Amino acid sequence: MALPSINPTSTAAWKKLEKHFKAVKSLEMKKLFAQDKDRANQMTINWEDFYVDYSKNRITSETFKLLLELAEETKLKEAIQAQFSGDIINKTEGREVLHTALRAKVTDAIMVDGKNVMPEVFQVKQKIETFSNQIISGNLKGFTGKAFTDVVNIGIGGSDLGPAMVVDTLQYYKNHLKTHFVSNIDGDHVNQVLKTLDPETTLFVIVSKTFTTQETLSNANTIKSWFLKHANQKDIAKHFVAVSTNIEKVKAFGIDQHNIFPMWNWVGGRFSLWSAVGLTISLSVGYKNFQSLLEGANKMDTHFKTVDFDQNIPVILALLSIWYNNFFKAESEAVIPYTQYMTQFATYLQQGIMESNGKNIDRNGHPVSYQTGTLIWGEPGTNSQHAFFQLIHQGTKLIPADFIGFAQSLHGNQDHQDKLMSNFFAQTEALLNGKTKAEVITELEQQSLSAEKIKTLTPYKVFEGNKPTNTIFIKKLTPESLGKLIAMYEHKIFVQGIIWNIYSYDQFGVELGKQLANKILKEFDNQTFANHDASTLNLLEFYKKNR
Ligand code: F6P
Repeated sequence: MALPSINPTSTAAWKKLEKHFKAVKSLEMKKLFAQDKDRANQMTINWEDFYVDYSKNRITSETFKLLLELAEETKLKEAIQAQFSGDIINKTEGREVLHTALRAKVTDAIMVDGKNVMPEVFQVKQKIETFSNQIISGNLKGFTGKAFTDVVNIGIGGSDLGPAMVVDTLQYYKNHLKTHFVSNIDGDHVNQVLKTLDPETTLFVIVSKTFTTQETLSNANTIKSWFLKHANQKDIAKHFVAVSTNIEKVKAFGIDQHNIFPMWNWVGGRFSLWSAVGLTISLSVGYKNFQSLLEGANKMDTHFKTVDFDQNIPVILALLSIWYNNFFKAESEAVIPYTQYMTQFATYLQQGIMESNGKNIDRNGHPVSYQTGTLIWGEPGTNSQHAFFQLIHQGTKLIPADFIGFAQSLHGNQDHQDKLMSNFFAQTEALLNGKTKAEVITELEQQSLSAEKIKTLTPYKVFEGNKPTNTIFIKKLTPESLGKLIAMYEHKIFVQGIIWNIYSYDQFGVELGKQLANKILKEFDNQTFANHDASTLNLLEFYKKNR
């Protein structure tokens, strides 16, 4: 089945939402809480080890009902069905979108071109397990007979961000292997990493779905040359493995057939950490933990596929995001994890969200007349409280935020955990309630300030409040809960793409810059630059003089 192609603004629900928005846009959430004592309970979903509270949003029960109608009218149910059953929903690239198959059960039959892909998926998983076990245990050794101490993941975009984020987030569960990530074409990146490495004990994992990406191939070649200064050609087989769909190109690079971990075209780069792209994750935290990550994601898939929309976590989060993006005209969203382990989470989500839904042509081939993809950004709390929270609290922009917190810390320092969590709760409470003029005056009076001083200071100390947040509260940061969380955002992306009537799984927008960079690179050879605008030409000349 092809995806539905309904312009969301043409639906009855959208028109009703526009009218409804005018009536509710100024409603204060704190009044809604006062009017309905059951609001917090009604707007909370308790699922597995997740407690998702979306009550601190600028919505009424009518808003919620209309948003659900929008999902129905844009045929979200049919679209979910089409995705999970392997229809070619990535139409512009002619591909299925089946990252969910990578975490499905061995007994599930998932068909691509009339063939069940699950046996192949499990074959590769088996290979990942065996290889990880051999490297971690030290049974597989480097060219001088020493066990491996370091693993370097060479990849970019989806072939870097997912594994890098998961390895960093799960570092509590890590084994002795030191992991490194080389992604940027910037030679300083690769050289800085190489500086710390011993060729005798380092394993290189080249990850590239296409095996044509300039950054990855340049870095891989630089690393190969460095390695060959210390070893012989035949030693490459012991130190280099690759993850790719492009087996021929991998072999041409000089990698042993046995060292290739295949992936498939039906896995999009930014959704690929569940495939062999996650090999570095498995090497870093062990296959069992990698498998738990996949199981967590699979549980979220089942929730997303089977639960009614009014209780469906990714669907609700997506609808709320649309409410702010398209009606309040909010341009960005923040994601604030209250754990230092999730420092890379927002960066990871940026590719998933912005590469998927940063589109301006709809599924009928027409320019959209409404806003699509949101900007996403964030940093862990409490650090971010001392960085950009000022703007969220008192700036002029509306920034809906997801607060992600964990009830238990991993190292078990209860004193720190209580302090961390008191901030977690306080921030969403402050964003909701703000601080009124009367409250500010009372507070300043208690400080025995002069009437004049109080008058001057008061406006600066008022907090409007009424800033929307979702609280995604999870028992503990484990491989499984992380798998659920990542899959939750993947499905949120999908739902938004369906409702906005865009194709979420292509990324043609990254091509133009690549083409021009290739043209400029060729021009460096003969040092003559042609067919550039005046600004670019000046910049190129400046580079020529100073390089
Ligand atoms: O940035 C564009 C992109 O195609 C991403 O979608 C992808 O994750 C990345 O480049 C890397 O591609 P590859 O895995 O083929 O090297």
